Amino acid sequence: MKDNRSKKTIIAIIAMSAILTALLWRFVLVAEAFTGDAGDTSASPVPDAPLEPTFDSVVERGKWLFERNGCFACHGEAGIGGVALPNYAAGTVPDLNYIAERMTIYSPEDAKAVIDIIESRTPFDKVQDPPYPRFAVTKAQYDSIRQVISNGSQAGSADPSKPPPPINMPAWKLILSDEDIDAIISYLISLYPWDE
Ligand code: HEC
Repeated sequence: MKDNRSKKTIIAIIAMSAILTALLWRFVLVAEAFTGDAGDTSASPVPDAPLEPTFDSVVERGKWLFERNGCFACHGEAGIGGVALPNYAAGTVPDLNYIAERMTIYSPEDAKAVIDIIESRTPFDKVQDPPYPRFAVTKAQYDSIRQVISNGSQAGSADPSKPPPPINMPAWKLILSDEDIDAIISYLISLYPWDE
């Protein structure tokens, strides 16, 4: 009996430390976001905070941000999904590698055109020469995806009489700039498995 109780205590302590480590990491990211501008790491109170390397493309930068911010912990490596979420209406945490389809981007050429627009920092509603006729639909989807990443979203319950899903989509606006979020969306668009 006593033995069983101490086992439970140890398990509880391990679980608590894991949660605390995750919270602490988020705190470090938020603290970093609030100190100086992003390029000026000399002002950072966190001496070991990793420097942002230079990237060849917006997609590469998005991949780095996706990994650094731990998006994969809930959405799977390279956004492939499959992470179980108890009592979640949609079953598993949404995959993110099919976002191109959701944005009505139906070919690698269209994907490249949209990523080029994001990379040029042109707002979607200022695009003079849309790459395809349904670009307005792409823009609407893009706005809603940015909104979810920025403000988070509460995971709906499959069965309202049971405890709600223990995990929600966190809000990232204190950690990620609009430009960061755009870079991540470019990366997610690039993940679409066109060959399958
Ligand atoms: C703690 C777990 C967790 C983390 C970490 C997380 N997400 Fe989420 N995310 C979720 C859940 C749960 C949902 C579904 C919310 C809902 O059903 O409304 C979601 C939804 C989303 C959606 C909408 C998907 C769709 O099909 O509607 C996007 C886009 C997204 N997350 C991107 C990200 C990005 C980018 C990161 C990292 C910066 C991230 N998430 C980190 C749990 C997480």
